[in-house]
Amino acid sequence: MRYLAVALLLVPLTGAAWTDPFPVKPCNGVDIQDVDMDTVQGYFEKGLLTAKQLTQCYIDRINLVNPHFRTVIQINPDALEIAHDLDQERIQNGPRGPLHGIPILTKDNIATADKVPTSAGSLALINKTVPRDAHVAALLRLSGAVLLGHANLAEFADYIAYDDYSEGYSDRGGQTRNCFNATQQTSGSSSGSAQSVVGNLCMAAIGTETDGSILLPAMHAGIIGIKPTVGRVSRAGVVPGSLSQDTVGPHARTFRDAAYILDAISGVDWRDNATFNAVVSGTAVRARNFSEAVTDRSALKGAKFGIPWDVLWSSSAGSVTHREAFLEVFRQLEDAGAILYNNTNIPRIRELQYPYGWGDAIDTPEELWARTYLHVDLYNGIDGYLRNLKESQIRSFQELLEWEDEHNSSTGALGGGEIWVSGADNFVRANATHGIMNETYYLAKLWRHELSRTGIDTALTHIAADGTLTLLDGLLVPMAGGGIFDSPSSGLPAAAHYPAVTLPIGQDPWQLPFGLGIWGTAFDEDKLIRYGSAIDDLIRWRGKPQFYNYETTEIPFDPRWPGFFDIPPSDA
Ligand SMILES: *[C@@H]1O[C@H](CO)[C@@H](O)[C@H](O)[C@H]1NC(C)=O
Ligand SMILES: *[C@@H]1O[C@H](CO)[C@@H](O)[C@H](O)[C@H]1NC(C)=O
Ligand SMILES: *[C@@H]1O[C@H](CO)[C@@H](O)[C@H](O)[C@H]1NC(C)=O
Ligand SMILES: *[C@@H]1O[C@H](CO)[C@@H](O)[C@H](O)[C@H]1NC(C)=O
Ligand SMILES: *[C@@H]1O[C@H](CO)[C@@H](O)[C@H](O)[C@H]1NC(C)=O
Ligand SMILES: *[C@@H]1O[C@H](CO)[C@@H](O)[C@H](O)[C@H]1NC(C)=O
Ligand SMILES: *[C@@H]1O[C@H](CO)[C@@H](O)[C@H](O)[C@H]1NC(C)=O
Ligand SMILES: *[C@@H]1O[C@H](CO)[C@@H](O)[C@H](O)[C@H]1NC(C)=O
Repeated sequence: MRYLAVALLLVPLTGAAWTDPFPVKPCNGVDIQDVDMDTVQGYFEKGLLTAKQLTQCYIDRINLVNPHFRTVIQINPDALEIAHDLDQERIQNGPRGPLHGIPILTKDNIATADKVPTSAGSLALINKTVPRDAHVAALLRLSGAVLLGHANLAEFADYIAYDDYSEGYSDRGGQTRNCFNATQQTSGSSSGSAQSVVGNLCMAAIGTETDGSILLPAMHAGIIGIKPTVGRVSRAGVVPGSLSQDTVGPHARTFRDAAYILDAISGVDWRDNATFNAVVSGTAVRARNFSEAVTDRSALKGAKFGIPWDVLWSSSAGSVTHREAFLEVFRQLEDAGAILYNNTNIPRIRELQYPYGWGDAIDTPEELWARTYLHVDLYNGIDGYLRNLKESQIRSFQELLEWEDEHNSSTGALGGGEIWVSGADNFVRANATHGIMNETYYLAKLWRHELSRTGIDTALTHIAADGTLTLLDGLLVPMAGGGIFDSPSSGLPAAAHYPAVTLPIGQDPWQLPFGLGIWGTAFDEDKLIRYGSAIDDLIRWRGKPQFYNYETTEIPFDPRWPGFFDIPPSDA
């Protein structure tokens, strides 16, 4: 019960005068705050705005906000020229599609063969030239998007360090901060992508996920995040975390915008053979028009959702501290005609998931922890990526680690002072595995993969007490901060390679947004977009960040700041 007392003591200041220091200015006289892609296309069509003007407005805003929030690593110096060319093309040939002229930021671990170095936030890679655009970046260009620049991230997508570490920090970009409250955390690792979207520093952004890196930062930014099935989107040209689990997906302010991006970036790529799975399963054909799946609350009539109470809702800090808000959402869903199936439990979840947040179940033997195989994957993935880069002395994982060692914190790569520099403790752990894929590796990986898949699929098949079997449309999970770590709502889809989405539903007393997640089975993105957009239409939470505490520089963000509880709540 101690956490409740903490919660009550930390009642935030109310009524204190605060004015948003960074209001979104009109662009060429047009309101662009939280604007969606269809609306912008309408402006383009009517001649009220050009892609070049819109790009300039975002660049101006990045220059204003970024010194405080560091959500962007680098602006593409050619962005205005690209936008101008796309404007000319529109005049001559009309738009290529819904992304024509739309400024999008890509996370700094997605290769772009332009003037912006791709370095996963590390200073070690800033002089390296990538051989070509990542498949995702090439497809975005093809769809007419303006690649505005690179978003900040937790260095090496959270995999350089676990201990000597601050979430959302990179040596190259500094500390990403939360636009709602700069002294609250952003979660990671696609922190800059998510915060740039909600801060109106771009129209949408691309993130990557190995375990939670799209979903969790979207939840703390109050936006839509889609984590696609592994194989839906090519990872070629993306700095790997784990080639078995990595995926690439959109951060956006609406499901429609996110779906437009997924339409543009999904598909088969011969450089990533995981994308062949979509063809083998037949789903590459079934759902290539995700924007068609976007709908409204009327789709909730008769929709069937499972609630995996044990342990995702019963014991997670998120569900306890935000329980009233979540129960209200359940009530609204039922009023809208949805059927909720409580206790659609996931077999063996207590062996797979730490109940109070992100990470491994502590009672499970260490040989079966996710990090047992993830460290091996990290070594091999980064080693392979570096070997494909040209012109550099850093050509292997070991050389990268040597560089990190030489430029360790003490040398203060960014000049010391208030800037805190990331350690490399996790790289040291990965190095110790030598990337060897032995029996231990395969056991840890296959054990988790199989149990996670079976767990989600079993829960999606609800069996009533009388034996009646019902196939559910999705599993609802909490997406909230509050425990030792964020909600335990990313680990199973990550290990299963299954898709998941998150949508915002509210804000805590410290301004931090929280959301509702939906899980599905492999290649279920169309269904998740359908029901996600339906629930989003029902709840319609549209909080605007007020940039509280923008002048503070307190870092790092781990351990947690007030508003977080460092003891697990008892199972409720
Ligand atoms: C990158 O190039 C600059 C300028 O040549 C040099 O000062 C810096 O040391 C280089 N960094 C790395 C990591 O190679
Ligand atoms: C996928 O491609 C990699 C590298 O080209 C290769 O080593 C691996 O065996 C392939 N996997 C499958 C399942 O074909
Ligand atoms: C996708 O679906 C939308 C809505 O039904 C439709 O307007 C659009 O033409 C479709 N796009 C493609 C490429 O089929
Ligand atoms: C779901 O079931 C559990 C256990 O029976 C119960 O404690 C919980 O209140 C139920 N939740 C909802 C939303 O009905
Ligand atoms: C950096 O320095 C810290 C403290 O001296 C040390 O614990 C860590 O292992 C070093 N990191 C690397 C990559 O050598
Ligand atoms: C990385 O592993 C190699 C090979 O075992 C070893 O020589 C080296 O000292 C290790 N580096 C670090 C920083 O642990
Ligand atoms: C596999 O390699 C790891 C080191 O990465 C080692 O700890 C483990 O004991 C090895 N397992 C087997 C079965 O050799
Ligand atoms: C911002 O977060 C801090 C804790 O980091 C908290 O003390 C403060 O009340 C929050 N500000 C607002 C306006 O909620």
